[in-house]
Amino acid sequence: MSFKIIEQNKKSWDIVAHHFNGKDALPSYGPFAQTEKELRLFNELTNKKVLDIGCGSGHSLLYMSEKGAKELWGVDLSENQIKTANETLKNLAANLFCAPMEEDIDLPKSYFDIVYSIYAIGWTSDLASTFELIYSYLKPSGYFVFSWDHPLYAHMKSQNGQIYLDGSYQDEGTTTYTNFKGEEAPVVIPRRKMSTYINELIKAGFTIDSVIESDVSTNYNSTKEELSDRYYSLYKARKFPTTMIIKARKI
Ligand SMILES: C[S@@+](CC[C@H](N)C(=O)[O-])C[C@H]1O[C@@H](n2cnc3c(N)ncnc32)[C@H](O)[C@@H]1O
Repeated sequence: MSFKIIEQNKKSWDIVAHHFNGKDALPSYGPFAQTEKELRLFNELTNKKVLDIGCGSGHSLLYMSEKGAKELWGVDLSENQIKTANETLKNLAANLFCAPMEEDIDLPKSYFDIVYSIYAIGWTSDLASTFELIYSYLKPSGYFVFSWDHPLYAHMKSQNGQIYLDGSYQDEGTTTYTNFKGEEAPVVIPRRKMSTYINELIKAGFTIDSVIESDVSTNYNSTKEELSDRYYSLYKARKFPTTMIIKARKI
């Protein structure tokens, strides 16, 4: 675990938190991606104990509650996100913790039916420990669902509509962005290959149920596709998956 990365990202997430109120939350799996309504990765949610890793503003936990989940737990690095999540979930007895996902904060082990993470897991500075911890939180036969940028997507840049590979997919490491969401909020984001996510899940003990390289959601079927060089655009998403979604199980 890198304390330096965690400290830097924590400061910046506190600055940008307000941009993410209700964004990247279930039933969405990510920008332009297929939704839970389309993919149906969560089976029955009634009476389930669920843990959200990188719970942000709490809107995915709210979705879980609306679908019948009995216990709502969440962890997030940012105090401002946890503050917002507490407001989002104010009428529900949610257990929310401000902590890095890569740290063992004594959450109950072999306890949760479902652990999930929507667009947060890629922030971890230590993927191996994070997956080991998540595995330990799950009951036997419990499952883990997460979504994140497709690892190649971050390398796909667009210039006048021509999509090209930027940097090296082979070169894992970190990228520092000096601005985030237009704010002076430097963040350090790890770069990992698809195989790294899959192999670390296997090393942690998981059995993989499905790997989804998301298509564009049917919600955009009638949206006119305009040429765009934006990082996330329908134009790019129609050609390459923005989002990977993985479901894995503790046997
Ligand atoms: C795009 S938001 C996730 C939105 C959220 N999943 C939802 O359902 O509303 C990413 C979140 O990851 C959190 N985060 C970043 N690094 C983290 C870390 N190392 N440990 C825990 N949370 C982290 C951020 O504070 C932020 O709230």
